[in-house]
Amino acid sequence: MKQSTHLATLARETLRNAYAPYSGYRVGAAVETESGEVFTGCNVENASYGLTICAERIAVAKAVSEGHTRFRRLVVATEANRAAPPCGACRQFVAEFGDEVVVCSVSSSEKRSWQLKDLIPDTFTADYIDG
Ligand code: THU
Repeated sequence: MKQSTHLATLARETLRNAYAPYSGYRVGAAVETESGEVFTGCNVENASYGLTICAERIAVAKAVSEGHTRFRRLVVATEANRAAPPCGACRQFVAEFGDEVVVCSVSSSEKRSWQLKDLIPDTFTADYIDG
């Protein structure tokens, strides 16, 4: 766990740890919990490509594994020209814990932000599962 300083800086620092020998696309993420703690993640690829885990999911899984399930902000950092939104799987994964999250993406020359609920409207949630 890290104290909340500058989420984009932490996400950029973390992308240096990305394990992305197949795509060469290094991604870092930093998620801030409701209590102000920050957890970071990077993408981890695999020779069996489908096993790849995105940076966002690693950051959120680290937070959840430390007992945090409420999130305020998620920042994703890449070295590309364009600031990309999180992939669909990551949107669903983060929305499991609530869609009141500000998502920000920073690249070498661009910054974009969204509300998670706009990135994934009408999310599939536990409410749809009959007991
Ligand atoms: N990737 C992420 O880490 N986050 C995303 O939201 C999109 C994609 C990673 C997965 C893979 O290692 C590489 O970027 C190219 O898809």
